[in-house]
Amino acid sequence: MAILIKNIKELLQVRENGITKVSGSEMAHLPVLKDAWLLTKDNVIAGYGTMDTCPEDADNEVIDATDKTVLPAWCDSHTHIVYAGNREQEFVDRINGLSYEEIANRGGGILNSAKRLNETTEDDLYEQSKARLEEVMQLGTGAVEIKSGYGLTVEGELKMLRVIKRLKQEYPIAIKATFLGAHAFPTQYKENHTGYIDLIVNEMLPAIAKENLADYIDAFCETGYFSVEETERIMEAGKQYGLKAKIHVNQFTAIDGIAACVKHNALSVDHLEIVTDEDIEALKNSDTMPVALPTCSFFISIPYTPARKMLNAGLPLALATDFNPGTTPSGNMNLVVATACIKMKMTPEEAINAGTINGAYAMGLTETHGSITIGKQANLIITQPLTSYYQLPYAFGSNLIENVIISGRKI
Ligand code: NIG
Ligand code: FE
Repeated sequence: MAILIKNIKELLQVRENGITKVSGSEMAHLPVLKDAWLLTKDNVIAGYGTMDTCPEDADNEVIDATDKTVLPAWCDSHTHIVYAGNREQEFVDRINGLSYEEIANRGGGILNSAKRLNETTEDDLYEQSKARLEEVMQLGTGAVEIKSGYGLTVEGELKMLRVIKRLKQEYPIAIKATFLGAHAFPTQYKENHTGYIDLIVNEMLPAIAKENLADYIDAFCETGYFSVEETERIMEAGKQYGLKAKIHVNQFTAIDGIAACVKHNALSVDHLEIVTDEDIEALKNSDTMPVALPTCSFFISIPYTPARKMLNAGLPLALATDFNPGTTPSGNMNLVVATACIKMKMTPEEAINAGTINGAYAMGLTETHGSITIGKQANLIITQPLTSYYQLPYAFGSNLIENVIISGRKI
């Protein structure tokens, strides 16, 4: 199957060379081809160019993109799409003055979601999760990472990861699975941290590896959750099974977790609402991608990741949704990109780079996703007619997407 898209007003993120990520001042540059065509063949991008070189229509399906923008589908490198029920009561409790921490301390938060998940069947969990996956695909996401972490028991974590595996099998979108057993301490292990980490290391990880259910390992490295030392033990255990780390860190406090993640060669460090000069130094010249989650900051009213400071220091940055029932019940990457522009003062070029090529890097998909490059997956967003791509973050409340193509198929 082939699709020829013609008369594209602006074809964004065209990269001929095998560039894997963009950092610092490079992020201000978004390569654009004007008056362009693009050809997909089967599931990949087969060619592109300016209209003076446009191939014959032949056997292709033809899409006329006059006045429209085409860009690579979003790469959302941090989500918790698999969960049971919701936490709308906690949302109202926060409106009425409680903080995220206060809600967690009285048994809400992650433990609330874990209770619901363990009461939900695997089939029901799959049905609830697939509806969210379909929604984000419609919103232009073409690759997604999904975490476990609401089981917190051997069976619960396996249930979540089996649901993710089933989603991988049933949908054309690229999915990476991350094991997040170290998301919170279950109540019975509140005073016995070593006991719970032993359970993760000695029982959960071997069972997960046996069924080949995870690509990465994660931990919530935070005051009141997993200490830096505990997080290091999790990263080391993951390494034994070939699982690179992607770590929740610096969401509420800076406790030197970022340096530990860099030391363990983590693929990404995520959240980073609170960032110190030492954290920035630790990230310099490393292969670890910092990931910001601005719609989490928006939803629970916490600081935004200091993007300008990080880019000025030469660091790369990726953007992701954090789609989860507690801190970000939204998987809309368009809103993430707009929020990064509005609240983090990223330019549209920087934000689009962060949501495509750098997002692909942050989930190990940079070879196949995140840019318009021959041979990469044909994962494309075709917009409605736009005056320019600035309209994407500018009209932050509108859905300007007309068509989404994932692996060469219209969604
Ligand atoms: O990324 N911070 C840790 N984990 C999730 C939220 C978990 C929850 O509240 O359910 C996050 O924000
Ligand atoms: Fe998260």
